[in-house]
Amino acid sequence: MSSLYLPESFARLRLDSMALKNLSTRHLGKAPDITRTFGRSVLRWYRMHGRHDLPWQVKSDPYRVWVSEIMLQQTQVATVIPFYERFVRRFPDVGSLARAKIDTVLGYWTGLGYYARARNLHCAAQIILHEHGGVFPDQLESVMALPGIGRSTAGAILSLSRDQRHPILDGNVRRVLARYFAVSGDLSRREVEVELWQHAEAVLPKSAALAAPFNQAMMDLGALLCKRTRPQCVVCPLAHGCRAHALDTPEAFPRRGQKRARPTREVTVLILIDPQGRVLLERRPAIGIWGGLWSFPECPTGQAPTLWCQQTLKIRGIKSPGLPVIHHGFTHFVLKIHPQPVRVTAAAGAKIEGRGRVWVYPGAPGRRGLAAPVKKLLEQLDKGYE
Ligand code: ADE
Repeated sequence: MSSLYLPESFARLRLDSMALKNLSTRHLGKAPDITRTFGRSVLRWYRMHGRHDLPWQVKSDPYRVWVSEIMLQQTQVATVIPFYERFVRRFPDVGSLARAKIDTVLGYWTGLGYYARARNLHCAAQIILHEHGGVFPDQLESVMALPGIGRSTAGAILSLSRDQRHPILDGNVRRVLARYFAVSGDLSRREVEVELWQHAEAVLPKSAALAAPFNQAMMDLGALLCKRTRPQCVVCPLAHGCRAHALDTPEAFPRRGQKRARPTREVTVLILIDPQGRVLLERRPAIGIWGGLWSFPECPTGQAPTLWCQQTLKIRGIKSPGLPVIHHGFTHFVLKIHPQPVRVTAAAGAKIEGRGRVWVYPGAPGRRGLAAPVKKLLEQLDKGYE
């Protein structure tokens, strides 16, 4: 049997010529036409044009696939790769992740955003260690019971790492299917979601051995060709059966709910600088944005920063000119950050350090668990603010 085009390293996603031929005979012999034609077209395309050498494809290990799928939930492949490589070097298995401090884990997540993902990953690793003997579960329901893992992610992990036959429906696949079947309903509606899952199940090849390459192919097709804007229908292997293409309106699918403009929130962050040039960091509460990460103290907008320092931290200081405003986007709002340096003249007996507060030199290396804009501000301060 000759294997085609795919590197040896990703054995599970290797499609040999025989398997592909069998798609229309043995495996899909009784499958409806749609499964057969859809699967064949997608897998042929994948063999030539899909992604076969991503770092998490090298070793088909459910732990590594899980980490990659969580990182890929809200972040693109190119961004994920260096974070993924650093993460699995430091936490090579479930045990090392479960036993690590959450601060250390968050440190390796800094810059990826959506930190709830890292907290869920850490928590799920502890569940796997204590309730599954450290072995990643292989039942879909048990995987879905872990924090941060929904049906699609569970299906992706078990198909990619264990050759189990499960459909997936991440953002890319949703778009491919909504176009192919011209699903015109609003994606946020439950019945539309149910319909898309039915399509995902219907097009999935019947052979479990093909679930991994097929699912990876669908994600790649969505990311590389069937893009949200300007889809590349001329080279798409599904164009011949795609209803949205036939209607000549692929971009009209999927329909999104009314997009509301994200509201803006404003906050003043205080960069308290002590006479030695150190700045004060506070650990944020576990719940809310940047939960558990280190940040600058926040002063409610509209309140005088120096008065706030005096009343809340028992620190006297002199305001310096404010630094340029930073806009930081979250899913549901945009945070407008006003960085306000204050030179500390006296800490009136305040016991500032300890209990979630620490003075640090802006250039001190190796500080983990910083919120992304804080990291940038520290670099800026280190390079010589003023
Ligand atoms: N997005 C989510 N999972 C992915 C994967 N395995 N490969 C590429 N993009 C993805």
